[in-house]
Amino acid sequence: MTEAAAATEKMPAHVAVIMDGNGRWAEQRGLPKYRGHEAGMDAMIEIVRHASDIGVRHLTVYAFSTENWKRAQEEVSGIFDLLIIYVNRELEELHRNNVKVDILGDRSPFSKKVNAALDKTIAKTQGNTGLRFHIALNYGSRAEILRAARACVDAGEGPETDEDFGGRLYTAGVPDPDLLVRPGGEKRLSNFLLWQLAYTELYFSDVLWPDYTPAEFDKAISEFGARKRRFGGRV
Ligand code: IPE
Ligand code: IPE
Ligand code: MG
Repeated sequence: MTEAAAATEKMPAHVAVIMDGNGRWAEQRGLPKYRGHEAGMDAMIEIVRHASDIGVRHLTVYAFSTENWKRAQEEVSGIFDLLIIYVNRELEELHRNNVKVDILGDRSPFSKKVNAALDKTIAKTQGNTGLRFHIALNYGSRAEILRAARACVDAGEGPETDEDFGGRLYTAGVPDPDLLVRPGGEKRLSNFLLWQLAYTELYFSDVLWPDYTPAEFDKAISEFGARKRRFGGRV
């Protein structure tokens, strides 16, 4: 999509993406899973760049769920190794493009090396005012909601409004997604942003995440532009 098209089309302020299909992509090619995750990281970087170019304000990607620890230890450590490599490699460009990075999820089980790479990225980009890039890592929506409920109890607070409770979630201060995209062919949420997706438009694609391109992203954006959102009202 060109800059001009972006300005005239209805642009979602916040797009959330479930980056799914890396394993099947690798399997189809007779490659180790690691290669699928690597190709998935390349696709992610392209989409961040593109989202920033077309003026999306928030991009949230589901990179590792609280349930993904069930996978083989070798796969899990491969995913985190790739994360460090890509974060370090892409940091300068993200910063140059004015992208601000943060993490949604529980970072406490991560190794020192992973947390150091994440801290460096967050610190370097914290003053940036362009695209906000939220990476959901060791993220699970139920764990997030339980954590928020516990924080309310600890503070002796009974939350009264959506905002009171939403302010306790990892996404505090971030508007709810307008559009959720799930490539990879599955039609489920897999414990992603259950509270935040209440009125989000859902878009599913059969393209496996490593094959996902800016053109595919634009298809989702233009379908979003054609949807009528009612939020329970009658318009
Ligand atoms: C998504 O791809 C990446 C993570 C969940 C970390 P998958 O690894 O789930 O790929 P498929 O669904 O098995 O193809
Ligand atoms: C969702 O994909 C999690 C991420 C993309 C990080 P999964 O592959 O883990 O989801 P299921 O198991 O198909 O529901
Ligand atoms: Mg999957």
